[in-house]
Amino acid sequence: MNDPQNNNYFVPQGMPAPDADAIEHSQILSALIKQEINQKKRIPFSRFMELALYAQGLGYYSAGSTKLGESGDFITAPEISSLFSRCIAKQCGQVLSELDSKYILEFGAGSGKMAADILLELERDNCLPKLYYILETSAELRQQQQNTLQTRAAHLAPLVQWLDTLPENSFSGVILANELLDAMPAHKFRISANAAEEIYVTTDNDRFVFQSGEPGNDLLKERITALGKTLPENYESEINLAAEAWVRSIGDCLEKGLVLIIDYGYPHHEFYHHDRSSGTLMCYYRHHTHPDPLILLGLQDITTHVDFTAIAQSADEANLNVAGYTTQAYFLLGCGLESIASMENIKNTQQQIELSQQIRKLTSLSEMGEQFKVLALTRQLDCPLVGFSLADQRARLLPLQ
Ligand SMILES: C[S@@+](CC[C@H](N)C(=O)[O-])C[C@H]1O[C@@H](n2cnc3c(N)ncnc32)[C@H](O)[C@@H]1O
Repeated sequence: MNDPQNNNYFVPQGMPAPDADAIEHSQILSALIKQEINQKKRIPFSRFMELALYAQGLGYYSAGSTKLGESGDFITAPEISSLFSRCIAKQCGQVLSELDSKYILEFGAGSGKMAADILLELERDNCLPKLYYILETSAELRQQQQNTLQTRAAHLAPLVQWLDTLPENSFSGVILANELLDAMPAHKFRISANAAEEIYVTTDNDRFVFQSGEPGNDLLKERITALGKTLPENYESEINLAAEAWVRSIGDCLEKGLVLIIDYGYPHHEFYHHDRSSGTLMCYYRHHTHPDPLILLGLQDITTHVDFTAIAQSADEANLNVAGYTTQAYFLLGCGLESIASMENIKNTQQQIELSQQIRKLTSLSEMGEQFKVLALTRQLDCPLVGFSLADQRARLLPLQ
């Protein structure tokens, strides 16, 4: 794998080398992407990211390796601590108690741990939903979610149903998306002296390389051109049209209830800050982060931060109410993190230390507390949401584009 002549198989220093099976898997996925590039000469970066993450049976999320947790590539809040999901459950419970139609729909449920922990908390609060739907694109993760539910909450597993698409009829209830939008394929762009350029992926001597050119569609061109008016030359970043389309699709389907989006990201003006001149794209491989998506194909996660202003704007256009925006720390504390933690059955000092470490990871400014944000979108729901009771920073999203 460490062939410096072929940088697509080059593992940066300090990162563990993949084993033979992983290399073979990566090579098959590379060949598939190269085949598409050979036909089209180049593909938008968003298409490259889509294939790298979701190509059937081969993409990072579609194939069998462990992704989440200590033995995987990255760790998400539900994997750090059940406290996170228990706080989310408090927000779900508050909204479900206002609705006749008591359903939850979780997108991209990862290992299934959040679903299990939310159901257990709602059971304790005597507020279980009629059904807990999961919409998961990865067949492999779907299987893992089923196993997790059987292991952690077997008696509640019959409440969980997996969907292939959004409910055909309208949906009322709570929709959850934790670290979903950052995993959606984003377009990359570059501001050049004379033009707004999209960044594509092509091959050179059998290696993947970037190439910039005319944006592939009018909407993208319009958006990059508008950004180019304020950004300096050679600035590179991303636009996530898939995430915006997802919000619009939710707007088409939600009749009544709440959508809770939790992810790392910024308001528009911070996302496209002049200092962030290489964008927000980041790759995760065995708990190492680096910025090169063209290597370790199918073996690493590729993500971009969320432009929460763009998401709020799409929600507004879809007639969803932007009902709250805050940091993860304020959201969890607003949901009662401290009192939930104080009720944990702590048996010894070691457990107390672990609990404190979990709370610190979830809430501290230098870890997830500030970098992760929570956005609430509602329809036909008037109650003030508990998660935003300590701080509602919607004003930071303005001005919408
Ligand atoms: C970064 S993981 C987060 C997993 C989980 N929510 C957590 O916090 O641990 C992204 C998840 O989103 C799923 N996913 C990506 N795009 C999706 C889509 N369009 N619809 C549903 N799930 C999707 C992936 O398969 C994966 O389960």
